[in-house]
Amino acid sequence: MFDSLVDQPPDSLLGLIKAYQDDKRTKKLDLGVGVYRDDAGLTPVMSAVKSAERILLESQRTKAYLGPEGDILFVSALQPLLFGARATGITGLQTPGGSGALRLGTELVALAQPGAQVWVGVPTWPNHAAILEAVGAKVRPYRYFDTATQTVLFDEMMGALSQAARGDVVLLHGCCHNPTGADLDADQWSETAGLIAERGLFPFIDLAYQGLGRSLDEDASGMRLVLAAVDEALVAYSCDKNFGLYRDRVGALFAFSRDTTKSAAIDSNMARLARVSWSMPPDHGAALVRTILESSVLRLAWHEELVRMCARITDVRRTVAGLEPQLKFLANQRGLFANLALTPRQISTLRLDHGIYMAPSGRVNLAGMRAADGDTLVAALAHVGAFKESNAELS
Ligand code: LMR
Repeated sequence: MFDSLVDQPPDSLLGLIKAYQDDKRTKKLDLGVGVYRDDAGLTPVMSAVKSAERILLESQRTKAYLGPEGDILFVSALQPLLFGARATGITGLQTPGGSGALRLGTELVALAQPGAQVWVGVPTWPNHAAILEAVGAKVRPYRYFDTATQTVLFDEMMGALSQAARGDVVLLHGCCHNPTGADLDADQWSETAGLIAERGLFPFIDLAYQGLGRSLDEDASGMRLVLAAVDEALVAYSCDKNFGLYRDRVGALFAFSRDTTKSAAIDSNMARLARVSWSMPPDHGAALVRTILESSVLRLAWHEELVRMCARITDVRRTVAGLEPQLKFLANQRGLFANLALTPRQISTLRLDHGIYMAPSGRVNLAGMRAADGDTLVAALAHVGAFKESNAELS
């Protein structure tokens, strides 16, 4: 049976976790996998999560199955956070993380429209194409971002989407673009929403970092503009980052249909797909999120901590941007990541000579470092020749 299997390379991002842990040097910097760290270098369990865990420990009476939809009160507690208080036509279910939501959403698309093409701006999170292809979707890449000039190639994006056929899927990052940190601005979101609606395309929005870019509402605003313009959409949501629940795998897949008579069919198909994939999602993390969102006290504590995390990321961005004119762009981008224009050799030298770990694409997780590490990073980048002699400024 297994004779035909060939070795797969380790995941380019997840492999970094072990490589960094195995590095015996004391002076090293982990800018690899996208996790938030505080000034002590820890990825903390948020205080509202700890409180919710205590409440659950005391109050949970059973761990009997819930069903393929998972915790439906978790799903309904999330809805106003994403879509605002008055949204209609939304239905959803709990998934194991945002990846589970992306996988289930792609399977739903494949079921509803076999052979659908999915338009993906590159660079993107490496697992996007992998998930889409695993389900047999045809990926249509277009250039979204120019790393050398640190600019969104909006005209190219519009040009590419103008070629898309009615019913094609457009995968969009809701906020905190991974890997570039370069989001669409409000005008660009409006134009994108208009084009999607005009051409009858189907938006699939990946919202994995809500609250870590600007604010909860601002980070959802692009997605809300798109939903206001179209009749149908999917949204893959992750609580892994904004609730700090990474390994608990907490996410949800939401479907929007203006025609609410379709809700029952959407719901039952999503539940069926969940049943044949993971049967039922893990409960613990979603129960924590529900407990937090249902309590005004815990919700406030969670939100205040999220705002502090977001401010810390912004501070790191501004600090590093202020240290080197050619990194000024960092201050204008949002969220955890930036994609530096580095060669594979430079990335390898940063790791071998300086103990600085980053994704092979040159993506750095700024939320993983302290502002005080800025000097070390900038000096190492200068050492590997990352900055142009001309002193050109990218802003
Ligand atoms: C990342 O992009 O680093 C995170 O989303 C972790 C992952 O699963 O890749």
